[in-house]
Amino acid sequence: MWALLVACLLPTAGGVGNGNAVASSADGEPAAPEAAEGYRLLRSKAYLPADLDQEIFDALPQVWEEPLRSRAFEATPAERRLMAMERYGLTPAPEDPSRSLQYVVGADGSWTMSCLACHQGQVAGRVIPGVPNSTYALETLTEDVRLVKIRQRKPLGHMDVGSLLLPLGTTAGTTNAVVFGMALMHHRDRDLTILSKPPLLDMPHHDMDAPAWWHVKKKQRLYADGFAPAGHRMLMQFLLVKENGPEKFREWEDDFRSIEAWIDSLEPPTWPWAIDASRAEQGRVVFEKSCSECHGTYAASADTYPERIIPIDEIGTDRVRYDALAARNRRDLNESWFGHYGDDGGLAEPEGYVAPPLDGIWATAPYLHNGSVPTLWHLLHPDERPAVWKRTPTGYDQTQVGLEVTTFDAMPQERMPPAERRRHFDTSKPGKSAAGHTFPDMLSEEEKQAVLEYLKTL
Ligand code: HEC
Ligand code: HEC
Repeated sequence: MWALLVACLLPTAGGVGNGNAVASSADGEPAAPEAAEGYRLLRSKAYLPADLDQEIFDALPQVWEEPLRSRAFEATPAERRLMAMERYGLTPAPEDPSRSLQYVVGADGSWTMSCLACHQGQVAGRVIPGVPNSTYALETLTEDVRLVKIRQRKPLGHMDVGSLLLPLGTTAGTTNAVVFGMALMHHRDRDLTILSKPPLLDMPHHDMDAPAWWHVKKKQRLYADGFAPAGHRMLMQFLLVKENGPEKFREWEDDFRSIEAWIDSLEPPTWPWAIDASRAEQGRVVFEKSCSECHGTYAASADTYPERIIPIDEIGTDRVRYDALAARNRRDLNESWFGHYGDDGGLAEPEGYVAPPLDGIWATAPYLHNGSVPTLWHLLHPDERPAVWKRTPTGYDQTQVGLEVTTFDAMPQERMPPAERRRHFDTSKPGKSAAGHTFPDMLSEEEKQAVLEYLKTL
């Protein structure tokens, strides 16, 4: 989600045609061709101005810090591209590893960010459709691209300039998407017409971990605080750059019906390693007693999801995201074109955060809305969550279930390049607290181990 807010909108009658009557794909049974078309569009259609081109991508190692730069120039071009993919948290495209799965590459060699930049990545070496890209280093990429553009005397684009004005993501794998989007949306009225004099926007920056897309079909409302009605129009906020006038949104609506159909067709990935079935069964019993009231049940015969919002003081997780949006901001978005002018519903004053579905939870580390907790073991042991952690580039921890990490009591003191600093998740920073969700404290250690095993089966 690139944008979350429409400022100063008042409900009025009227609207655009062709909206309310159209349903997304039917429950759990998406029309396969439409879903396939959605994926095709995500991979091949550029909805934003280009961010870079192949020549810039290939020159990026020139601006890397030493000794990485020398190492890159000793490598073959193919190895160098892989190093670049790893530095920026991109996934090589299966059909052409010199390109990224997360960028649309045009016939002219231009690279344009797509939704998949944040919403599709890899886990334990496997590309998983709809898994959040927990390695995406958007700020590092944008900084390096800007330096190369200056060297190549190429014009700066919206991201290059945007990142000078506000942080894009201070920890790799998370982005300031909510605020960045709000800044864009702040320049629009309810019909998405661009305002000449937008009101001032004052909002705390905070980085978010994107949610898994296979949960979207279980939800009536979207986002960490569950305030926005689900629907294909809501999916389009990410396109609010000034180059896209209101007519583009009407023109692209059908595309986003297909993209929604693809998102709705996604299924959670299954745990690829062994499971201790009897321990998992014990874990199910504990889970249904202690966790299901909020997170639902997952038996094939009884798959329930209550979509509960838990008051902010009760959940106790970082509240910056919750406080960042005012009731008016939420109402304005819901009452804009994106929410069919209020007809889709939505909540202006949610009480806290939504308890998310936990299908495929093994694959979506790090945990909590801000991505502050590296493994499920740490989620289940609130007092032992690391103050600072750094993941290995691609490692998966099968025992603690989640990211393979090095932990620290505090941010290391030595000087490090910004790209390296952003690989450290520092929970002492604003918006990055790993506190709260202390419900697992009710369980004995044995019960926690059993629940951990059960969570692998979801
Ligand atoms: C720069 C990263 C980024 C990009 C690009 C991006 N998103 Fe997101 N998306 C996020 C983040 C972060 C959230 C969580 C926001 C929140 O909960 O407040 C999110 C939330 C969502 C959700 C809500 C999921 C849920 O379970 O509540 C949907 C649906 C979604 N995005 C669709 C899209 C689509 C479609 C696109 C492309 C048009 C897109 N996003 C582009 C980062 C991104
Ligand atoms: C009172 C409601 C409630 C109970 C009980 C509860 N949770 Fe949660 N849980 C939440 C909420 C709300 C969140 C989202 C918090 C956030 O992101 O800040 C959450 C988040 C999580 C997450 C992280 C999800 C993600 O995608 O990052 C996991 C895993 C989880 N809970 C597991 C459990 C387990 C296991 C239990 C039982 C021991 C449990 N929860 C009990 C409300 C609850």
